[in-house]
Amino acid sequence: MERPHAFRETPEEILSIIYRISSLLTAPTSIDKVLDSIIKSVTEGLGFYRASLYLINREQQMLECKCISGFTPEQENRARTRPYDLQRHDSLETKVALTGYSILVKDGYNDPILTDIDRLVTKMIGRGCILYVPLKVKGTTIGVLGVDKEKGKPGISEKEFESLSVFANYASTIIENSRLYEALLNEKKFSEDIINSDIRGVLTVDVRGRITLLNPAAESLLGLVKEKVLNKPLQDVFECMRDMDGVMRRTLLRHESIKGYEFTVKRDGKQVILSASTSPILDDAGNLVGSLFAIEDVTSERERGEYLQRMNRLIALGELAAGVAHEIRNPLTGVGVVLDILRNKKRLTRSDAGLLDEATHEIERLEKLISDLLDFARPKQLNFEPGDINEIVQSIYFLISEQCNNQGIRLATRYGKELPRSYMDCEKIRQGLLNIVINAIQAMPQGGDLMIETGMRVKEQEENGGRCIVVTISDSGSGIDEAVRDRIYDPFFTTHHEGTGLGLSITHSIIKEHQGTIRFDSEPGMGTSFDVLLPVGLGETRKR
Ligand SMILES: Nc1ncnc2c1ncn2[C@@H]1O[C@H](COP(=O)(O)OP(=O)(O)O)[C@@H](O)[C@H]1O
Ligand SMILES: [Mg+2]
Repeated sequence: MERPHAFRETPEEILSIIYRISSLLTAPTSIDKVLDSIIKSVTEGLGFYRASLYLINREQQMLECKCISGFTPEQENRARTRPYDLQRHDSLETKVALTGYSILVKDGYNDPILTDIDRLVTKMIGRGCILYVPLKVKGTTIGVLGVDKEKGKPGISEKEFESLSVFANYASTIIENSRLYEALLNEKKFSEDIINSDIRGVLTVDVRGRITLLNPAAESLLGLVKEKVLNKPLQDVFECMRDMDGVMRRTLLRHESIKGYEFTVKRDGKQVILSASTSPILDDAGNLVGSLFAIEDVTSERERGEYLQRMNRLIALGELAAGVAHEIRNPLTGVGVVLDILRNKKRLTRSDAGLLDEATHEIERLEKLISDLLDFARPKQLNFEPGDINEIVQSIYFLISEQCNNQGIRLATRYGKELPRSYMDCEKIRQGLLNIVINAIQAMPQGGDLMIETGMRVKEQEENGGRCIVVTISDSGSGIDEAVRDRIYDPFFTTHHEGTGLGLSITHSIIKEHQGTIRFDSEPGMGTSFDVLLPVGLGETRKR
């Protein structure tokens, strides 16, 4: 007797077929490939004429054909695109899917179990003996596997029935595993996508506090390179983080979440304020496996807050200072007049004349102080005109170059090219910048480097396109102590022996009048760098 698709009956052969498809699982394989191999094993390996595989879509209560072989392309396409409705369609496929029992039909045309749908299908595709077996995982049916034999050929034997059932059991497990694997991959990709997005810096550590993950946003926020810090203790990487030990203890030993822990890091030579929130990472059993740090840059928020505070303080101090200055000026003028009268007296001894000169000198100093004070408190009406910042810097250069030379200071300038002329009070801006430059010189009594640089910068989120002229004044002097950083703009704050503490206060109010910004960055012992930003196009609106 001739059997074109000889059925292989030995258990070893079935096992070897199962082994072949199982091997698919050891390498990451897409579910489609797995289903394809299953159908191939059924037709080529187990020798059935045609085969189809359906999986249950639980959400939609549908039975969907996922893989099919041996039919015409039209028939296969039809099967794939027209799923069975588990509730509404009564067919061999839905019966097996719903009951979980196999169905063997000897005669695809006349068997009493066939419904209208089944007979219609038989008519369309022509089938003799039909067998449907459930695909089950841990007692739950996930789909059905169907095979048939040509009409007029011998039917499906007991042995074949049994082999397909055994095969279906293995196939189900393989399908389920590969679906889980795929879901896991998707989930992993999903988490990776979130972590790699630029929303926030994310960093994780294990229970010993060693860095296990760092996303690109965290790398740029912290100014770190992933390869260099992975597996290193977080404490080593963040020496700058005060009380890092405390943070680690709280998150890793006490499983606490910390919100908005602020710390500063130095990035590209600038101080930035970062805020970190931590939360413990637990495994399925609730054991702590590490801690997650979400990090964001809060520098500009903090600076805005500090700036407003500073402004309010300066306004209050300014008013007070103006009142006092006014009160002092009148009696001082009186004292000056008296000194003049005395000096004009005859018979003044030499030493008396010397004393009078000294007193006059002191009065002049006081007058200068008062005029500075009034400058700061009640700035005169500004005189806006188109000005060239490079010209202003150049005039400062000429004014100080000799002194720098004598003091061993290397003075350098770098002028930005094609800077726009901007409306400003050139004399005031010169005074404001000079105050900064003088401080820089005073910070380098043993000499050093002084650099004045001009350029353009675009400040995003700002009106007028945010274009600014920027003047940067950097010195290699003593630097400004952390403790006094927020006081240097205060009037009368000084660390200089003969200082008045008014220089930066005046500079600050001049720049404010120009709607500009002043900021600085300083490293004690290394030097200080001040940035003055003046918006371009400001005066044009003023002029109109
Ligand atoms: N470039 C600088 N390097 C170090 N310290 C500085 C620098 N600029 C300003 N300071 C500090 O700021 C203080 C206030 O400066 P300022 O307002 O000009 O007053 P004064 O120069 O009269 O002390 C200085 O006394 C000094 O401590
Ligand atoms: Mg000064």
